[in-house]
Amino acid sequence: MLTIHDLCVSYGESQVLWDVGLHVPAGQVVCLMGRNGVGKTTLLKSVMGLLKPRTGAITFRDRPLTALSSDRRARQGIGYVPQGREIFPDMTVLENLRIGLIAQGLPTATIPDDIFELFPGLQTMLHRKGGYLSGGQQQQLAIARALVTRPQLLLLDEPTEGIQPSIILEIEAIIQRLKEAGNMAILLVEQYVEFASRLADHVFVMEQGSIVLEGKLDDMSDADLQRYLAF
Ligand SMILES: Nc1ncnc2c1ncn2[C@@H]1O[C@H](COP(=O)(O)OP(=O)(O)O)[C@@H](O)[C@H]1O
Ligand SMILES: [Mg+2]
Repeated sequence: MLTIHDLCVSYGESQVLWDVGLHVPAGQVVCLMGRNGVGKTTLLKSVMGLLKPRTGAITFRDRPLTALSSDRRARQGIGYVPQGREIFPDMTVLENLRIGLIAQGLPTATIPDDIFELFPGLQTMLHRKGGYLSGGQQQQLAIARALVTRPQLLLLDEPTEGIQPSIILEIEAIIQRLKEAGNMAILLVEQYVEFASRLADHVFVMEQGSIVLEGKLDDMSDADLQRYLAF
């Protein structure tokens, strides 16, 4: 579904990603791991078209994304849940969900019912302002907002960051359900190793802007995990 080749990305003079390659097939959760500052968010923003790569290729459903704006990428079926959630605090839950549809020029009248099957809690607070939700509820809202447009590729940037354990389990169950449906590809940026190990089919580990390890988390040595992931 998503393939990245030799991606190099810089902020001004400072290069942050170095020849990064990865692949995310449909029906799988691929996890991108690594400590703070190694370039994980930069990679997701590059896929979304929010940053312009210096070199390299990103293809989605076998078509190059390079020339497309981030709006167009969303319309082609890429959903993005940014780090820190970035919901609109002064808008209600329902308005936040509608934003996902408006961004794609879709009618806003109905939020698909299956969204509320995945997130029953949100249905009971449709008219509450986003800013009044707990961190975990905001994270669920951010995921729901990305799902209303039925993306084929979902990019999730540290969805467990700062979230209480009970909600982490709910988010895990939702990602598991999306994966089991089989038609979506999920690229999950995550630092919480147990969460990643329960969900990921394949893991890429980054260090200073390069992929340094790749495979199944269970096959990686404790020494490597300590070296690249421990704080
Ligand atoms: N807007 C920016 N301008 C300049 N440098 C940035 C910017 N955003 C991130 N960086 C730098 O790029 C590197 C990678 O950041 P980021 O992709 O956010 O890492 P991660 O998501 O893995 O924590 C860091 O060194 C960070 O300081
Ligand atoms: Mg980040």
